[in-house]
Amino acid sequence: MSVERLISGKSQGQEEEKYNLTLRPTRLIEYIGQKEIIEKLNISLRAARERGEPLEHALLYGPPGLGKTTLAYIIAYEMGTRLIVTSGPALVRPADLLGVLTNLERGDILFIDEIHRLAPPVEEYLYSAMEDFRISINLDKGIYSKVVEVPLKPFTLIGATTRSGLLGTAFRERFGILHHFDFYPAEDLSEIIRRSGKMMTLEISEDAVYELAIRSRGTPRTANRLLRRVRDYAQIYSSGKIQKENAMTALKMEGIDECGLDGVDRKFLRTIIEYYDGGPVGIEAIAATLNEEVDTLADVVEPFLLKIGFVVRTPRGRRVTKKSFEHLGVKIPLGQEQLF
Ligand code: ADE
Repeated sequence: MSVERLISGKSQGQEEEKYNLTLRPTRLIEYIGQKEIIEKLNISLRAARERGEPLEHALLYGPPGLGKTTLAYIIAYEMGTRLIVTSGPALVRPADLLGVLTNLERGDILFIDEIHRLAPPVEEYLYSAMEDFRISINLDKGIYSKVVEVPLKPFTLIGATTRSGLLGTAFRERFGILHHFDFYPAEDLSEIIRRSGKMMTLEISEDAVYELAIRSRGTPRTANRLLRRVRDYAQIYSSGKIQKENAMTALKMEGIDECGLDGVDRKFLRTIIEYYDGGPVGIEAIAATLNEEVDTLADVVEPFLLKIGFVVRTPRGRRVTKKSFEHLGVKIPLGQEQLF
């Protein structure tokens, strides 16, 4: 990412990660929201435990910051197993995976974040590991080459991805459990903020909780981050107590508007309007104009704008809607009203 964003779904540094870890629920019962996922997962976990088997491989997908990693930690806790954490970009060659796989104990959970970014040979190497719990190792090259089959201990692979569409069918079909994470409604975010507030021993009014919830882009990680910014502000200017007024002032200072959009979101919308007549326009063109990475726009910025109906996808690219014009206070050019 080229721009540090307050509402970016991505983690920002160690300080933040420390908070994420302490605010993270550790047991399934503490998890707020995503009811359908939790209900189904609870059944899968209980059934696997009763049979004394590892959980089936699971694929968790959805926008960043919604709790995919948190849920992987919870699954390990509930199964009473270890969680080994790695990521797609960290596994460059099959050899990188070899060490990880052969060191797994029975029931261990291997968590691969950004699994859509695995190199194809590494992904293919995973197939037999996932399906038959065995891998083949090529010893030597040329006429002396020999393939040895190595058995693995039964394990669970949990993959997390922001875009399941980038995973091939062959790979996707090797996961027995698939769960899609959606943005959280304000009520769930309010509950998460109250819980985090309690853990941080904050005094926070109910209307401030709600104000934060509706400005968190449906994302718990953002809610917790905004809560910390508002806490700092309240500590300096209002002897600590967080109320609607100081919360709103603090959020305004951070460039967060009443819909929870930040400067990058607004720039994204303005670029489509000002440079591309409201669209349709390809995401690559928007990225080039904004000097941003395509992946950041596609994973972090766009999903929420689609969700709240500020942007639509058409076969020819992205288009803003009337709501975007209204939100930005921009008039639709004369004679073009019917286009939006
Ligand atoms: N903190 C972040 N996400 C959470 C969630 N879904 N439930 C409870 N606490 C959280």
